[in-house]
Amino acid sequence: MDSDRLEQTLVLIKPDALKNSVTGFILSQLSEFHTGSRFAAAKIVNVNRLLAEEHYAEHRGKAFYEALLDYIMGKVHYPQDRWKRRVIAIVYLGPDVLKTVRTMAGPTNPHKAREERPGCIRALGTVVPILDAQGKHIDDRMDNLVHASANHEDAEREIKLWFIPHDIPPLMRAYPTETCDTHYYYKQGRLYETYEPSSVFLLGPGDVVWKSDLDILRSYRSDNPAPSGLNKVVAKYLINRFPED
Ligand code: GTP
Ligand code: MG
Repeated sequence: MDSDRLEQTLVLIKPDALKNSVTGFILSQLSEFHTGSRFAAAKIVNVNRLLAEEHYAEHRGKAFYEALLDYIMGKVHYPQDRWKRRVIAIVYLGPDVLKTVRTMAGPTNPHKAREERPGCIRALGTVVPILDAQGKHIDDRMDNLVHASANHEDAEREIKLWFIPHDIPPLMRAYPTETCDTHYYYKQGRLYETYEPSSVFLLGPGDVVWKSDLDILRSYRSDNPAPSGLNKVVAKYLINRFPED
């Protein structure tokens, strides 16, 4: 990677930030004037369960996991108004941008953020107890307003998880792409190369795709219905296709 020009990070403006109207504050913190970096892509996402699970895969099984998924899917902040459940997903690009945005965001826990780094974005967040069915305190949910990739490896995984190449201007793309030469459809955890009733069209010949995604799709054989890693490829093609529960 041309690290000066193409260092990238995924920034998510989470549902609590939208609900509390700190979106403008966060975006102005991300201005080129403040950081020397630039917006490469942005979209409003109604987060589907598959995307939430893939994004937070490292936390699967932890006590706060389900609460974390509900939070990023917007269910916590918009329990009734399903149409308001959104995050703003941004690819942000520039020299040393990973460190710059992590510093601006501050510590994961908003209480710690307020104590240690007043002025950081997460100092405006909150910590909410998670209770079990008996009302016992089992863990906490950290409503920390923003996500920022932790390192290059996470940034690549996350940007490819949330964005297709077409979302990003070609000269701002940091990862190899390839042109698809066949059709792919998806239905209930399975991949098809021809249309099945009720399947969802993912890709067709001529579409520009992350090369690593195409490698996964190409490992598909009709006798191997679910190539490993399929969910992380599919999740982004399902973004904003259907209303989520
Ligand atoms: P993100 O930018 O959101 O990825 O935060 P992070 O990189 O500072 O933290 P990490 O990737 O480890 O965790 C992702 C999210 O899971 C955090 O934003 C928290 O909401 C939650 N989380 C992570 N670690 C803990 C933990 O130890 N306890 C609790 N209760 N929540 C956690
Ligand atoms: Mg993280």
